[in-house]
Amino acid sequence: MPEAIQSAATPDVGTPSRPVPPRHVAIIMDGNGRWAKERGLPRREGHRRGVEAVRRSVRCASERGIGFLTLFSFSSENWSRPPDEVAYLLSLLRLFIRKDLIELHQANVKVRIIGERDSLQPDLVRLLAEAETMTAANTGLTLVIAFNYGARNEIARAARRIAEAVAAGTLAPAEIDETTISAHLDTAGIPDPDLVIRTSGEQRISNFLLWQCAYSEFVFLPARWPDFDELAFDRAVADFCERDRRFGGLSARTGA
Ligand code: IPE
Ligand code: IPE
Ligand code: MG
Repeated sequence: MPEAIQSAATPDVGTPSRPVPPRHVAIIMDGNGRWAKERGLPRREGHRRGVEAVRRSVRCASERGIGFLTLFSFSSENWSRPPDEVAYLLSLLRLFIRKDLIELHQANVKVRIIGERDSLQPDLVRLLAEAETMTAANTGLTLVIAFNYGARNEIARAARRIAEAVAAGTLAPAEIDETTISAHLDTAGIPDPDLVIRTSGEQRISNFLLWQCAYSEFVFLPARWPDFDELAFDRAVADFCERDRRFGGLSARTGA
């Protein structure tokens, strides 16, 4: 399948009806707690098993030649959970980076972290920076981990930096356009998601990539995140390939 994959950014103009796979897949990995509860297990067991689904998804996206995979792993609102659950989620991220970084690097995966970092513990900030630095020159899948991420927070931070540039005289207010905003978001340089998948049956965006999802296609799956596998990934991509994206214009397939 990898050779069959063609970037969404470079559609084959000669055959407009050919399905174009997503260049960027973003996933709201939801349902760990319910997965555990349904099995009479503690919530943390759901989170632990969720990491396995993360590994499967990264492998799957990499093998299928997807350019960018964004995983929503911890939101800026998730701090409101009980402290022991928050501590466990933080420990899982640390463990994932410590254990999997070398393997990701060997698989030519480039790691990017988005989200607010200033309020995180210094050792975690160092670890996140190390993951990005070590893999910066890799040319395979870009794995974007959204950690302590909230889209409103991201937009507010971008607005602050733009205001600072205006105050410093390096940017004129009249120059501010959509490109300026995009360039000041944590996702600068990353194409907008073509496909957003949410597991667990919830059908909401929960403060994820609000700016970037303007024209994304959404697939909502009933499966809990720890059960998400290659088949579910491929089905979501196949569903995406059936969509008629119009971007406010007319259908590229039917011309209507
Ligand atoms: C997703 O699973 C993991 C995080 C949000 C960190 P949840 O923990 O939200 O699981 P549910 O939604 O309670 O089942
Ligand atoms: C969204 O899931 C955040 C992540 C998957 C990290 P939540 O479980 O936090 O979302 P809500 O609270 O159900 O909207
Ligand atoms: Mg949830």
